[in-house]
Parts: sequence; structure tokens; C-alpha cells
Amino acid sequence: MSDKVAEHILVIATRNRGKSAEIKEMLADFPVLVKDLNDFGPIPEPVEDGKTFEENAYKKASFTAKILGLPALADDSGLLVDALKGAPGVYSARYAGPHATDRDNNEKLLKALEGHTNRRARFCCVLSLAVASGPALTYEAFCEGEILDSPRGANGFGYDPLFFYPLEGKTFAEMSLSEKLRVSHRGQALGELKREFEKVLKWLGQRQAEENMRRGANEICMGGHGDH
Ligand code: IMP
Repeated sequence: MSDKVAEHILVIATRNRGKSAEIKEMLADFPVLVKDLNDFGPIPEPVEDGKTFEENAYKKASFTAKILGLPALADDSGLLVDALKGAPGVYSARYAGPHATDRDNNEKLLKALEGHTNRRARFCCVLSLAVASGPALTYEAFCEGEILDSPRGANGFGYDPLFFYPLEGKTFAEMSLSEKLRVSHRGQALGELKREFEKVLKWLGQRQAEENMRRGANEICMGGHGDH
């Protein structure tokens, strides 16, 4: 954050320091103090059993917001392959099994696509920003590409070496992080959040005011009982 005074604390619902560093960087000019789960010691993790990216992102964000009593931002993402009717989708991280590595997942994907000429695919990212009382804002973005027959490039993670981005003529694993963020599903969803961040701060202020009124009303009620 610059020399502005923080109006809100925002917790990124991740322990991944790379992910939170990207988000901190994007929100650096706004009056918000960005933290991540590493700032809070051990807390339980939500079960990601939603049927959509939106459900899972909301689960992570609202679970974290409720436990910490602070606004929380979570993302959920994955790869949708046309020839596989949208698989691996929300199961992208564990496509080849609960403890699958990126390599296992990529090998399974190549096997599943053997003989398919339609290689069209897209990444999806959903960001959910939730407050402790439940309401949330949602941002969604896609990035269109094609799945290659064999991996290319050494950067990135997950399906990056197989995901070819035709507009740049490179796989995501052949791009630098900043090149990838300019076009990727996550970069675009974060960009939209950033463009709207002034409005987001107002929304957070309104939710905080509602929360304060609710607390005030509860205290009056409890005070009333105490008098009798
Ligand atoms: P999560 O949203 O961090 O749970 O990620 C879901 C999974 O989708 C990851 O483990 C990757 O397998 C895949 N994935 C999501 N975004 C990307 C990306 O930018 N590049 C490559 N794989 C991705």
C-alpha cells in the first residue's frame, strides 16, 4: 500500500505466497491492507466440493470471512476441454487422483485427447470477495486456447505446458509471469476487480455499516434483557 491510510483489511484465502503477492501488487494503490492466511496461524480449510468454480470460490471466501470476521477474497480456477465435454473442469487439480501431480494430470489429459482433432479448451477463473455476514461479489474470466500433443516450456504450473495461446503463438509455460497475467483467466479476473475497486471499497463500507448496526441492535436487546 502507498502512504494512504488503510480503510479495510482484506484477507486473501490462500497460503500460496505467490498468489497473494500478485494480488497485493495489483491492489497496492488502494487504501486496503491485504493479508493472507499465513498471517493468521492454523485455521481449518473448507471442503471444495462445489459443482461450479463459483460455488467453490464462494465457499473458500465466505468460510475464511466467517472464521476471521474480515472480508476475504478467494479464487477458484480450472481447465475446460471441449472434446471432453468440459472436463477436467472443477476437478482440474485432482484430475488424475486425489494426490495427482501436475505431470500426472497432464499425462491423463493427453491420453484422454488421443485421436481427438478438436483441441479447443479454455481456462476459467472465478474470484469471490465475501464478508462475514454472507454477501459476496463475484468476478469471472476465461482464456481461450488449444491443447497441444506434447508439453512445451518450463514456466508456470498445472496445465501451462500443454495450453497453447494462439494470439501469442506460445504455451502459457513459454510466457513470463507478467506476459501470462496480461492475457490469462486469473489476470483478467483480477484486472476487472482492480478496475472496480473503488466501488468494491464502497460496498465493503456499506456491509461494515450494516454489521455495526446489527451489533448495536443486539447490544441494545441484550442490555434490555439485563435490566429485567
Ligand atoms: P485452484 O483454483 O488453485 O484450485 O487450481 C485448480 C487447478 O486448475 C490447478 O491445480 C491447475 O491444475 C489448474 N489451473 C488453474 N489455473 C491454471 C493456470 O493458470 N495454469 C495451469 N493450470 C491452471
